[in-house]
Amino acid sequence: MTVSDAGAFRAQILHFTGVPDPLTGAGIEYMEDGVLLVENGRVKAVGRAGDMAQQGLDLHQCEHFPEHLLMPGFIDSHIHYPQTSVIASYGEQLLDWLNNYTFPTELQFADPDFAAVAAAEFLKFLLQNGTTTAMVYTSVFAQSTQAFFSAADKFNMRMIAGKVMMDRNAPTELLDTPATSAADCRELIERWHNTRRLQYALTPRFAPTSSPEQLAVTGKLYRDYPGLYLQTHLSESKQEIAWIKTLYPKARNYLDVYDHYGLLGPRSVFGHGIHLSDDEITRMAQTQSGIAFCPTSNLFLGSGLLNMARLEDAGIPVSLATDVGGGTSFSQLRTLAEAYKVLQLQGQNLHPLKGFYMATLGNARALQLDNCIGNFEQGKEADFILINLGATPLQALRQKTALTVAEKLFALMTLGDEHNIARTYIMGKLAFRRADKAQGALVWMD
Ligand code: GUN
Ligand code: ZN
Repeated sequence: MTVSDAGAFRAQILHFTGVPDPLTGAGIEYMEDGVLLVENGRVKAVGRAGDMAQQGLDLHQCEHFPEHLLMPGFIDSHIHYPQTSVIASYGEQLLDWLNNYTFPTELQFADPDFAAVAAAEFLKFLLQNGTTTAMVYTSVFAQSTQAFFSAADKFNMRMIAGKVMMDRNAPTELLDTPATSAADCRELIERWHNTRRLQYALTPRFAPTSSPEQLAVTGKLYRDYPGLYLQTHLSESKQEIAWIKTLYPKARNYLDVYDHYGLLGPRSVFGHGIHLSDDEITRMAQTQSGIAFCPTSNLFLGSGLLNMARLEDAGIPVSLATDVGGGTSFSQLRTLAEAYKVLQLQGQNLHPLKGFYMATLGNARALQLDNCIGNFEQGKEADFILINLGATPLQALRQKTALTVAEKLFALMTLGDEHNIARTYIMGKLAFRRADKAQGALVWMD
């Protein structure tokens, strides 16, 4: 085996081959000294350095990161690119937060030049945080969706995205109509869906901002183009649920609104789903519709605590998401830390191996992308990250006393953030590198 025409990366390596079982080790592949071989942007092989050397690999040809953990890139199943600058906006719960902060900011995305700059900025934030794939809401303006897909294509990142559809209950300048939204979606789908690493998601914002007619055209598009995704919000706040009852009085419950228009299914990802009834849970499971768990957002907006065990026990796919700008961080490490606390408050746990599985292969499965990303199976796209386990003095101290991989990962997810992401690679190519001493270099005065 040689590394000609290939990258070879030697480090501590972790990836998942299935749902991890921390007791038996099933689903977990960890190598204290491993090598990842990449060829033409795809995984050629992964294995222990010793075994690879025996098979003829010259280890001197590897880029060697003995102190770093190499993992598949993180996947974020729900995030809003126009909301980067909405992050950390004070004092409101969902509906007021939308009216006071989000809608005014999203108005700026009518300008294609503004949108193009914001799209590139957003993708750079993802890369800094080790996120290589995301399912993304753009804005109501089709040109902002164009700008996003163009930027993602330039960065060669695997992205699912769609134009927000909303035709009522928002400022007039932010509204489309059922007919214009359908025409815009068709144009965007024809232009971008399945173009290189990009896929399209129909994106009605949520039932309160779409008329029944708009949800009906969304259902038609979903049927007309097999292979599309659908994303929207569901049962995030109690005020929102009360509003649904007045807007859709005939619906049996919130989910039933979407069900009525044919929007459920295994390629549908619903943000939040915190306050679902038993009937809604049964229907989600029947249709294999997914929930995106957004813990930093749910805490920040005071929306509630997601009962993840209840959803998983029912067989609903649950993915992990930041929901920036309702969410307070682009970092899936920060998101895992908050997910752990949300579950703790309900007597549940999030084992670190389960957490890192969710952020990688689990989310890939939930987004039906595990045929191409999520782990280091041969032939998959080589999106991966190098993690510095001790990015601060406190982290370095804590890592010294962590004896097992699970302990190391738990300290990483509890204490870590974007400063732990040393490098991010897209299809084998270095896309982001943190300057060695940019953070954590302390200067003490005598
Ligand atoms: N519900 C409808 N729109 C939004 C949004 O932009 N963020 C969140 N968190 N919830 C929503
Ligand atoms: Zn959202």
